[in-house]
Amino acid sequence: MLSNNIYRFCSEENKGWVTIIFEKSDGTRLKRLGKIGDTVQQVIGKDNPDFPGYGECDGTLSCSCCHVILSKEDYDKFDVDKRMKTKEEDVILSASINPTPTSRLGCCLTIEPEMDGIVLKLPPEIRDLKQM
Ligand code: FES
Repeated sequence: MLSNNIYRFCSEENKGWVTIIFEKSDGTRLKRLGKIGDTVQQVIGKDNPDFPGYGECDGTLSCSCCHVILSKEDYDKFDVDKRMKTKEEDVILSASINPTPTSRLGCCLTIEPEMDGIVLKLPPEIRDLKQM
């Protein structure tokens, strides 16, 4: 009985997490676990030595340092209109360095179960709008 409870606890714990693969501009890939319902920015956080400069405003939508680029397929799959991409995100994204048609801000991108294994590219340069 006890082992069933432990199994159930572990299964429920694992059900809430997905693997997110971050691909740096040099092709290096780093896998991280992301909790469903959190944002992509929360997976990396701020002041993470593996991701220098990432998420400087810590998710307050004022730096553009959480810029990530999705594949076209994933961008369409996670239809931004249905996920409520806001005007504020568009404004901050447009001020980032070389935004692409499939760019998002990690602090505005909520982790969903279907994102397990998603590859998010990190741009070669990021701009901290707070420093301007
Ligand atoms: S973490 Fe600063 S805009 Fe997303």
